[in-house]
Amino acid sequence: MPAASSYSLQTCSSSARSIASKTTQPLALTDRHQRCRSLSFSSQLHRLDLSIKIADSRRELDSNRLNAVVRAQSSLGTMEVDISLSPRVNSVKPSKTVAITDQATALVQAGVPVIRLAAGEPDFDTPAVIAEAGINAIREGYTRYTPNAGTSELRSAICRKLKEENGLSYTPDQILVSNGAKQSILQAVIAVCSPGDEVLIPAPFWVSYPEMARLADATPVILPTQISDNFLLDPKLLESKLTEKSRLLILCSPSNPTGSVYPRKLLEEIAGIVARHPRLLVLSDEIYEHIIYSPATHTSFAALHDMWERTLTVNGFSKAFAMTGWRLGYLAGPKHFVSACNKIQSQFTSGASSISQKAAVAALEMGYAGGEAVATMVKAFRERRDFLVKGFRELDGVKISEPQGAFYLFLDFSSYYGAEIDGFGKIDGSESLCRYLLDKAQVALVPGEAFGDDTCIRISYAASLSTLQAAFERIKKALVTLRPPVPV
Ligand SMILES: Cc1ncc(COP(=O)(O)O)c(C=O)c1O
Repeated sequence: MPAASSYSLQTCSSSARSIASKTTQPLALTDRHQRCRSLSFSSQLHRLDLSIKIADSRRELDSNRLNAVVRAQSSLGTMEVDISLSPRVNSVKPSKTVAITDQATALVQAGVPVIRLAAGEPDFDTPAVIAEAGINAIREGYTRYTPNAGTSELRSAICRKLKEENGLSYTPDQILVSNGAKQSILQAVIAVCSPGDEVLIPAPFWVSYPEMARLADATPVILPTQISDNFLLDPKLLESKLTEKSRLLILCSPSNPTGSVYPRKLLEEIAGIVARHPRLLVLSDEIYEHIIYSPATHTSFAALHDMWERTLTVNGFSKAFAMTGWRLGYLAGPKHFVSACNKIQSQFTSGASSISQKAAVAALEMGYAGGEAVATMVKAFRERRDFLVKGFRELDGVKISEPQGAFYLFLDFSSYYGAEIDGFGKIDGSESLCRYLLDKAQVALVPGEAFGDDTCIRISYAASLSTLQAAFERIKKALVTLRPPVPV
């Protein structure tokens, strides 16, 4: 077997992982679709010792497969292991937020008082009535498999919610309950997209959308938006990007990471375009629906004229009900599509947790839009938003679009790019600015690059007002030493 490179590893298996990751360079390969892939061997190597040899990948280019073979010593002698990964997995980008999150965690563990404003989850506990329902479910032995699509009790409750709050009519067989909205979205993308189809995604986007399109062998088509338009999609841009391959448009309102809320009129304009393109479906991610600040109001895309048949609505319990760890989301749509997702789920995870489903029924019984408990959380989020918006508006060189929902602020700090810092280097984008703010201000934020907009940084205000006040003062102090090189 021809060897392109060989590497030495120590024999101690516990150290193999870290040594492998230090000594092996990612092997960049290009397949016939010209996608760039990289292989990382570290996770496969903890049980493989001694030297590894990587097979010459060039011989595999014609077969559209990546092969990388390692030689390993085992108790039976030398053996070869093909550690290549599927092209599908290799096409998925690792999360760019991981590096800064890991760095922040390492600092906290080392005793550095880092304020973490990177999380995408409410800082509130699950309301007691929901938690009690979960506890009772366990006590009452409600701990067995449920139907794959979810219990009929929960699906009926979801139908009532969609009718009363969203003006949408669904029957329980048009609802699929999953382990979080993330699973609902991935299954929907896989169910409707064929290889080569295009998935249209307005940017800034939730980090998972493009990667989910790639996992479905579809092509993400990014539609940039402007901060001056409150990061809302320009219908003309959408129209100009539609081709016969366009299969799915993903809308997220209120949006992660921008907090923008699509006004009904704009959604109607988009619906008019969708109506003219019969192949195009819309996935409407409404998971932040209840975290919305009046006068903004939420419109479900499926409720628009002629859009019910064309829309896959995704929602869940993680955000509004502070239930991230309960892992529960759902899809509502025409039966044909929901059944397809149900089939995927039946061979994948089966039904969601029986305990969480009981808790979710209690959540939906808390009243319109989550009742008092959710209103209290939204009030707190609003106060925090107002505090941060006011503060950052007064800072030189920061551009802002006031969020109307969710619990994120997506701020344009690009006027600070280009600054040179002694002992740190050049700030050349959102990632280096986040590293600088982590280093200097000890505040962990997420670079906008991860969301498809390098001019911005995402601040999650799912933290107490006093924590946000401290974080703001630290950021302000750190920015003052970076004179904005470009006036805004
Ligand atoms: C826009 C958006 N959609 C979907 C999800 C997934 O939520 P979950 O899987 O927790 O229900 C998230 C979580 O961060 C999100 O921000």
